[in-house]
Amino acid sequence: MQRDEQKLREHYSQPPEDISLDEIDLDRIPKHISIIMDGNGRWAQARGRARSEGHVAGVESLREAVTTSVRLGVDVLSAYAFSTENWRRPKEEVNLLMHLFAKTLIKELPLFHQENVRLQFLGDIESLPKKTYDVFCRGLEETKDYDEMTFALAVNYGSRAEIVRAARMAAIEVAAGRLSPEQLDEDAIARRLYTSNLPDPELLIRTSGELRLSNYLLWQLAYTEFYVTDVLWPDFTKWDYLRAIRAFQGRARRFGGVVKQ
Ligand code: IPE
Ligand code: IPE
Ligand code: MG
Repeated sequence: MQRDEQKLREHYSQPPEDISLDEIDLDRIPKHISIIMDGNGRWAQARGRARSEGHVAGVESLREAVTTSVRLGVDVLSAYAFSTENWRRPKEEVNLLMHLFAKTLIKELPLFHQENVRLQFLGDIESLPKKTYDVFCRGLEETKDYDEMTFALAVNYGSRAEIVRAARMAAIEVAAGRLSPEQLDEDAIARRLYTSNLPDPELLIRTSGELRLSNYLLWQLAYTEFYVTDVLWPDFTKWDYLRAIRAFQGRARRFGGVVKQ
């Protein structure tokens, strides 16, 4: 929200050859940036290490993405951490991830306090292991009044499940006579999604080169600009983040209309 130019310049000192902060129009930073953090397993595999080590390394990239977003003055950063389909993974990997989410949040809570960042979750977090759920609730409670930025982490999130849930909630209202079928419009659905309080993402970044959504924010991404990079998530830096924003700023967004001259 509020951008501290000096801190931003410091954050982005010593640029690599191909990108610098000067190429970015700071008045046109996307308000909501969303990231599908992918490629942790391949990152580890390429080093002959266990997949879990890729997840641990990925935490650092996420930490940097949060700080970078605050420095740039992004209003909302959202990130896909665990999908409803990820339960299909080996039990050990799922357990490791659940443990890592809890451990990381406890460790990183000071960052949220320091940077005035409010935490939010997208997805069914009540079904998570109790320890993880309890830590998430603590994070929500401790950061609920912060307003510099919202960090929305998608955990046990599936977009189809989210839309079904919204439809079901609306159906209950209709059956009870509190909502008429005519009132059931786009807004009525959007208000019942996990993202009801957030603007739609303007920019979606996916790492590791995959060209798919993997059941992520199907509704909310209707007019979002996509940026896919081959960089694997643990290698993703603040410079890659800037490259994504530069690409975004070079796009002509038409929303179905004609481009303005
Ligand atoms: C993303 O990395 C993290 C999660 C889905 C939890 P992956 O674990 O999917 O890494 P790859 O795609 O197998 O390389
Ligand atoms: C998407 O990544 C989910 C997250 C990043 C949490 P996946 O690695 O699970 O996606 P697929 O299986 O390649 O589509
Ligand atoms: Mg993957």
